[in-house]
Amino acid sequence: MKENLTNSIQTITLKTFYGFEQTLAAELSEFGYKDLTLLNRAVQMKGTWKDIYYLNLHSRCALSVLVEIARFTIKEEKDIYKKAKQIPWTEWFDIKKSFAVKGAVFSTIFSNTKYPMLLVKDAITDTFRDNYGDRPNVEISKPDVLIDLYVRENQATISINTSGAPLFQREYRKETGLAPMNEVVAACLIRMSGWDRKTTFLDPFCGSGTLVAEAALLASGIPSNIERQFYAFKNLKNYDSELWNSIYDAVEYKIRNLPCRIMGSDINDTMVLKARRNIRNFAFSRSVEINGMNFNQVKSNDEPVFIITNPPYGERMGDRINELYEAIGNWLKHSMTNSVCWIISSNEDALKSLGLKTSVRNKVFNGDLECSFRKFEIYAGSKKQQEITE
Ligand SMILES: C[S@@+](CC[C@H](N)C(=O)[O-])C[C@H]1O[C@@H](n2cnc3c(N)ncnc32)[C@H](O)[C@@H]1O
Repeated sequence: MKENLTNSIQTITLKTFYGFEQTLAAELSEFGYKDLTLLNRAVQMKGTWKDIYYLNLHSRCALSVLVEIARFTIKEEKDIYKKAKQIPWTEWFDIKKSFAVKGAVFSTIFSNTKYPMLLVKDAITDTFRDNYGDRPNVEISKPDVLIDLYVRENQATISINTSGAPLFQREYRKETGLAPMNEVVAACLIRMSGWDRKTTFLDPFCGSGTLVAEAALLASGIPSNIERQFYAFKNLKNYDSELWNSIYDAVEYKIRNLPCRIMGSDINDTMVLKARRNIRNFAFSRSVEINGMNFNQVKSNDEPVFIITNPPYGERMGDRINELYEAIGNWLKHSMTNSVCWIISSNEDALKSLGLKTSVRNKVFNGDLECSFRKFEIYAGSKKQQEITE
């Protein structure tokens, strides 16, 4: 299989979270990929295994990179087994590798949506038994090889999940707080905001620093997954370590100076320490300013600042949450003139307490929480104009 890795064209599906399909497509366009098809929580494209390696390393907005190995129509449950049994599994991976079958099923053909995954698992183990009289182990939590099954009504697709563990497991973040943001969500919010990677970036509620780290990685051009070692494609029989090393070694990762100021702050000193520790492996870590302070101590002095932030949503704060958001609104109007501020929050009432006019809003999810990601433009000399409540 190896000789085909750089020229045989594959159907590649990159999965992402709800609401970020356009954002992921924009990232892929920036990489130079064309003919992108937007799906529900995914973007599909054509490419080679070289692209698959590249995307696993470079995409900040994808959760996983799948390569299609079979697509077929089914009439009844057992068709899944029959078709999966025709796939040459022993050519894809060695019997010593563990595997798992995961995926999603939206079909009236199946009463139990887990059952089709079991059928594919049986087809794989039976194929190995037929060939070697033995079978590979199933390992659910961190398999060497991950197979993806997607069924929508009578259409089934079997893919290899070439990432394995989801790509938000970047391996640079060692410490988190109570409500850490998922790294892929952070990267998607930054891209969705349209930050130009030149204007000063600030997260005044930075917690363990996820938005700050992802902003610095984006601005420096260092892939967010540069620290990650595990990729399931390394466990396939077609793995080409030379090809992977050529892609990995092409990355310039010793960048010390960022193209702009990147700042984070948090009232909690423990979180400040965690945020600093999370970026200390990067050469640019000294260029990122992370300070312990109340948000209202930060002043822009009329310099343009681009703020993306994830303040508390109020689960543990009772009525004080509306006061906090009102104070954030006042701080933006009085101390952050000439700035753009994007806020992600699940608390609609609290967002109204900001007393600012929303110029763009997007529905997104932070974990299981439905959130609004809103843009506020704070102009100099127009404090009155800002004082509009929705
Ligand atoms: C939802 S968490 C942010 C999580 C962060 N995005 C991450 O990935 O870890 C909100 C943060 O706001 C901080 N915070 C609460 N009140 C604050 C205030 N008045 N000024 C600055 N930070 C504050 C908390 O300490 C907490 O770390």
